Amino acid sequence: MQNILVTGKNGQLGNEIQVLASAYPHYNFLYTDIAELDITNKQLVSDFFNEHKPVTCINAAAYTAVDKAETERELAFKVNAEAVKNLAQACKKCTTQFIHVSTDYVFNGLATSPYKEDDPTDPVNYYGYTKLKSEEFAIAECPSSIIIRTSWVYSTFGNNFVKTMLRLMTERKSVSVVNDQVGSPTYAADLAQAILQIATLKQKTEGIYHYSNNGEISWFDFATAIKETSPSSCVVNPIPTSAYPTPAKRPAYSGFNKEKIQETFQLSIADWKVSLQNFFERLKANV
Ligand SMILES: NC(=O)c1ccc[n+]([C@@H]2O[C@H](COP(=O)([O-])OP(=O)(O)OC[C@H]3O[C@@H](n4cnc5c(N)ncnc54)[C@H](OP(=O)(O)O)[C@@H]3O)[C@@H](O)[C@H]2O)c1
Repeated sequence: MQNILVTGKNGQLGNEIQVLASAYPHYNFLYTDIAELDITNKQLVSDFFNEHKPVTCINAAAYTAVDKAETERELAFKVNAEAVKNLAQACKKCTTQFIHVSTDYVFNGLATSPYKEDDPTDPVNYYGYTKLKSEEFAIAECPSSIIIRTSWVYSTFGNNFVKTMLRLMTERKSVSVVNDQVGSPTYAADLAQAILQIATLKQKTEGIYHYSNNGEISWFDFATAIKETSPSSCVVNPIPTSAYPTPAKRPAYSGFNKEKIQETFQLSIADWKVSLQNFFERLKANV
């Protein structure tokens, strides 16, 4: 059986891939996180690839603390950029298909229509800069790489905006959420499904792709929808970004044009509201 390496197994995407991978019994999945394979260690990465010779490597590992990345620059660069270079070099050497995940934060957010894959990048924070470097390293070291940019990821696993809102809505009478940052949520289970579909295709097409759920909303809209599905009487107030200063600046707009991924890989993409309902059902069922 062919091996598929999945890094970052303890993260949101890594966990969702594990849930869905049983539907692909013709592959042997190797799940790693920092304890099994620290991707910043070039020698360990090289040794792992030489031993297991994965046919595909899905990189779900990353440094994702956007605000902390402003001060923990060295670590963020090491995990998000240098480690991707390690993986890309190993993939090239072992003719492994590299599937790497990047972010909407490579854009500056000044666009007024959905971003296409070849639109100019211009990250406004350090995390976005490290992820842009990751894309450049992946393409330079392993030109057959597939890079999937995604946005506003949430899951029943790990910490994310949806789970933070649910907690705050039980603790507080009101929450204030920015209404002038617009983008698209991505349910990590949907992203995992899309990645597995691509990873197990015979014919793969290199390049950068955009993936999120369908529909564009503000964080305030998202919080309001979360509130509607919870029994909480908490009031959700819209505020401007200027009233909620954070160490890292965020793009004001990060909607994706997703035609390329849909057409290339024959993917259908769910609306964000449908996926949020699926998330709640799973959360309730505790699965
Ligand atoms: N979350 C979002 O909103 C969002 C938005 C856009 C794009 N993305 C991208 O989507 C991908 C998946 O994100 P996610 O939310 O699933 O991330 P996540 O939940 O933060 O998971 C990342 C995993 O990588 C692990 N990791 C960190 N350093 C490592 C190392 N040196 N070696 C091996 N593993 C290491 C982390 O371990 P520790 O937890 O112990 O550090 C964690 O288990 C990432 O590429 C991210 O940049 C995410």
